[in-house]
Amino acid sequence: MYADPVKILITGAAGQVGSTLANAASADSFFEVIALSKEQLDITDEDAVRACLDKHMPHYVVNCAEYNRVDSAEKEAEQSYAINSRGVELLALACGELAVPMLHLSTDYVFDGHYASGYTEDDEAAPLGVYGKSKWQGEELLRQFLPRHIIIRTSWVFSPAGDNYVLRTLDQCRRQDNMLAVDDRRGCPTSAADIARVLMAVLKQLESGAEAWGTYHYTGAEITSLYGFTREIMAMAGEYESLRCQNLTPVAAEDFPYEAQRPISSVLVCRKLLNTFGIRQRPWRNELSAVMRSIYQPETSGSEPG
Ligand SMILES: NC(=O)c1ccc[n+]([C@@H]2O[C@H](COP(=O)([O-])OP(=O)(O)OC[C@H]3O[C@@H](n4cnc5c(N)ncnc54)[C@H](OP(=O)(O)O)[C@@H]3O)[C@@H](O)[C@H]2O)c1
Repeated sequence: MYADPVKILITGAAGQVGSTLANAASADSFFEVIALSKEQLDITDEDAVRACLDKHMPHYVVNCAEYNRVDSAEKEAEQSYAINSRGVELLALACGELAVPMLHLSTDYVFDGHYASGYTEDDEAAPLGVYGKSKWQGEELLRQFLPRHIIIRTSWVFSPAGDNYVLRTLDQCRRQDNMLAVDDRRGCPTSAADIARVLMAVLKQLESGAEAWGTYHYTGAEITSLYGFTREIMAMAGEYESLRCQNLTPVAAEDFPYEAQRPISSVLVCRKLLNTFGIRQRPWRNELSAVMRSIYQPETSGSEPG
């Protein structure tokens, strides 16, 4: 006889990670999935959040909703805090009332990026801009109001759809002869499919009784620069189409027209997740290759996490 499926409620389910997780978990009989886009559940609407949790009574909430416009956040601070801080607080409070644990995603932007050898979960947060500050505050509110939580910080997320660096790079490469890429910002690209795999593995272990609440880091394996990542995107895309741009120039972050400050090193040490849950990092190059296949040959690609 099979156990009842574990009901997970996913917020922000039209986003990169939200939609990928919803597809992957729906294909796994371990889970029953309630996937809600912003239109179906606005996490900043207190009444809607409570009513939604009362209605669905999930075993876990997985918050994939966020305000992600790093540059615009400097001028839209209210919106950034409403979604990344207050929204998380409302979910945490509603989950607390019903004793529902919550998994939440956060970011390398909670750090200032001066620590080149990589940040552990114990390192001090020092966000540089409004976006990072709003995400950090969201983390702190979750810690305050819902002890049974898992926060997974990740970096440089990409997938075959949505607003991400891979698709923006491809778009630019088709329109421009020359491109610039920052070569002194270092980090680890991470596919949405890989994050979905990690979330599902964590959920399964929690359900088996692992009382391992707290904050973790997860990114794809192998540190690169944005320039290195861009070169790899162009090389892999070049196997499928002839890109107009043939000339990629490395530049320093301080010479790049960013509006908001960004961490110069986004490297996150992922040992705690390995030691606690046995989850290993996967190389981002393999994930990028799978995403390229999904972009160029969607009919031959599955929707399983890579
Ligand atoms: N993307 C990255 O490079 C990156 C890097 C580090 C960490 N992360 C973390 O990974 C998580 C997921 O990122 P992602 O790339 O999947 O983000 P995403 O693609 O931007 O998805 C976020 C989703 O949340 C929705 N949303 C916005 N406001 C909402 C609200 N009030 N209520 C409910 N939903 C709302 C968005 O809808 P609209 O698009 O319609 O506004 C979008 O569908 C985030 O927590 C982020 O901190 C991402």
